[in-house]
Amino acid sequence: MSKLWTWVNERMAVNEVIENHLTKYYAPKNFNFFYFFGSLAMLVLVNQLITGIWLTMSYEPSAAGAFASVEYIMRDVDYGWLLRYLHSTGASAFFVVVYLHMLRGIMYGSYQKPRELVWLFGMLIYLVLMGEAFMGYLLPWGQMSYWGAQVIISLFGAIPFIGPDLAQWVRGDYLISGITLNRFFALHVIALPIVLLGLVVLHLIALHEVGSNNPLGVDIKKAKDESGKPLDGIPFHPYYTVKDIVGVVVFLFVFCTIVFFFPEMGGYFLEHPNFEVANQLKTPDHIAPVWYFTPFYAILRAVPAIGGSAFPGVLAMGASIAVLFVLPWLDRSPVRSIRYKGWMSKLWLAIFCIVFVILGILGAIPGNDTRTLISQICTVLYFAFFILMPFYTRMEKTKAVPERIPG
Ligand code: HEM
Repeated sequence: MSKLWTWVNERMAVNEVIENHLTKYYAPKNFNFFYFFGSLAMLVLVNQLITGIWLTMSYEPSAAGAFASVEYIMRDVDYGWLLRYLHSTGASAFFVVVYLHMLRGIMYGSYQKPRELVWLFGMLIYLVLMGEAFMGYLLPWGQMSYWGAQVIISLFGAIPFIGPDLAQWVRGDYLISGITLNRFFALHVIALPIVLLGLVVLHLIALHEVGSNNPLGVDIKKAKDESGKPLDGIPFHPYYTVKDIVGVVVFLFVFCTIVFFFPEMGGYFLEHPNFEVANQLKTPDHIAPVWYFTPFYAILRAVPAIGGSAFPGVLAMGASIAVLFVLPWLDRSPVRSIRYKGWMSKLWLAIFCIVFVILGILGAIPGNDTRTLISQICTVLYFAFFILMPFYTRMEKTKAVPERIPG
């Protein structure tokens, strides 16, 4: 075996890669709970790829056969129900994990110099993930698949001049049809997963170039011993591989409990109208996207139409996602971590988290006057968090960041 290992390494630098990214890759010694979610996102990605490939073996991407093929998977294919629940629960788990991963980045200022590219690749991952989830949702061809896609694609129609043609181009038809289903299938199973994998690789290459941040935002590259090892760093392997296994076990415990006991999660992971086959002649009473899109859907609904056009809402929804891309340039604080920022940053971050949850709830339930007003207030606060950031991060008094990680 050792001869084979040498033979391989003389031809391909496997050992070097292992050393550079694991055994001699030094990560700050103070990673906490929030640092589990990067590796958990990779775990969920692998779960989605594997279960997705197996689902594809029995799924039929046609308007006539899609719904029945999902029922066939659920009832007749050996362990088909398990594959489907692992995949549908995996989709929601992906967003839970990614939202916590992004929150960590925001809390600890991990997007700040020199990690802007890590953040930008992360945001591209997030965009592709949204596209992936949206297209995957059409595939079971249930009522909510159909009408959800109908609502979202028709939003393109609100764009001035090119809108109607664009919507028709995306659908490939005048209405959502088997043609739309076919192209979404192609994008969902091949195109977007390849892009996603490529982006994750770039995300990690960018991260390993500059190294991880940590809950204190202390730069561990400043204090090194005579051999050049960071004094406050520990090798990723074995220390963090072992620590991540703890996170994986706890995650799998929760994940499996949902897969085996609550796969529909009260209609939040698998929506009830989607157990009915798509019907072009019957609009569901209440059309709402899956929970992970609802904050943005609430922003869309909060902005009033002008002259019958939904374009202002579409613009606001697009802006609410786009603004996250420029976060590294909005934060002007001399410190990274929220622990050393002033009270204004802390207050605004708390407001941002609260309004994001409220918008998420409001986007999932039918609207009325009071709810619209609340979502309008929350939309203003959502944008204020970002727009005012260059001011409050510069004005406030920050605490001194220690030179070294204590303890
Ligand atoms: C498929 C989705 C993703 C995967 C597999 C992934 C993977 C990872 C991994 C393994 C790490 C290092 C471990 C850790 O810090 O937790 C990391 C760090 C990071 N990720 Fe992601 N990520 C994903 C999505 C995102 C998104 C959507 C964003 C934000 C827009 C993001 C922003 C970051 C940042 C800023 C860091 C550095 C954190 C620090 O050093 O404090 N990632 N990612």
